[in-house]
Amino acid sequence: MKIDVTQHCDIDVNLLKNIIEIKSVAWPYSVANQIKWLSTNLKTSDFHVLLNDHGSYVAYLNLIHIDILIDEISKPALGLGNVCAKERGKNYGTELMKSTNDFLLENKRPGLLFCKEETIGFYSKCDWEVIPKAKIKVSFDSPKIAAMSFNLGNQYSKINYCGVSF
Ligand SMILES: CC(C)(COP(=O)(O)OP(=O)(O)OC[C@H]1O[C@@H](n2cnc3c(N)ncnc32)[C@H](O)[C@@H]1OP(=O)(O)O)[C@@H](O)C(=O)NCCC(=O)NCCS
Repeated sequence: MKIDVTQHCDIDVNLLKNIIEIKSVAWPYSVANQIKWLSTNLKTSDFHVLLNDHGSYVAYLNLIHIDILIDEISKPALGLGNVCAKERGKNYGTELMKSTNDFLLENKRPGLLFCKEETIGFYSKCDWEVIPKAKIKVSFDSPKIAAMSFNLGNQYSKINYCGVSF
C-alpha cells in the first residue's frame, strides 16, 4: 500500500469520485454537498491524500496549509482532517496515517489535528501526540475536542491557532 498525494488544483473528476465514495461511508452527505464542502474548505495548494491498495483507493484524508504560533513565532504547518477508511478494522487508517507522517517529515512540516476524545487512541497508535489543553489556544469553541500533533516536538510553552476548524 502507498499514498497518492494530489494538490486540490490538480484534482480530476475520477479522483473526486473516489474521494466522495470513501468520505460518504463515514459522512453520508449528498454528492452535491460533498463537492460544496471541498470547494469551500480547501485552497488550491491543499492536499488530498488517498491510500492506494493495489490500484483501489481505500482510505482518505486531507491536509490544509495553516499557520500556527509556537511561542509567538509563526510557523507553517499542515492541518489534517477528514480521516476515513472505506472499510474499518483493516489497518487502512493506520497505513494512511503512517505514510502521511512520512510525508510531513519529508516536507519538514508539523501536523495538527482536532479529534473527539474517543479517537485519541487511534491517532496515538499512529505516533501522534496529544497537546495538553493548557498548551493550546484555538480561535473556535472546542470543549470536547482534543488537539494532537506530529513532528512538533514538545519544547514549546504555547501553541496558538487562529484559523478555522478543520
Ligand atoms: C478512524 C478510522 C479512519 C480508522 O481507520 P481503520 O482503518 O478502521 O483503523 P485501523 O484498522 O487501522 O485500526 C487501528 C487501530 O485503531 C483502533 N480504532 C480504529 N478506529 C477507531 C476509533 N474510531 N476510535 C478508537 N479506536 C479506533 C482500532 O480498533 C485498531 O486498534 P487495534 O490495533 O488495537 O486493533 C475509521 O474508523 C473511520 O473511517 N472512521 C469514521 C470517520 C472518523 O470518525 N474519522 C475520524 C475523524 S477525527
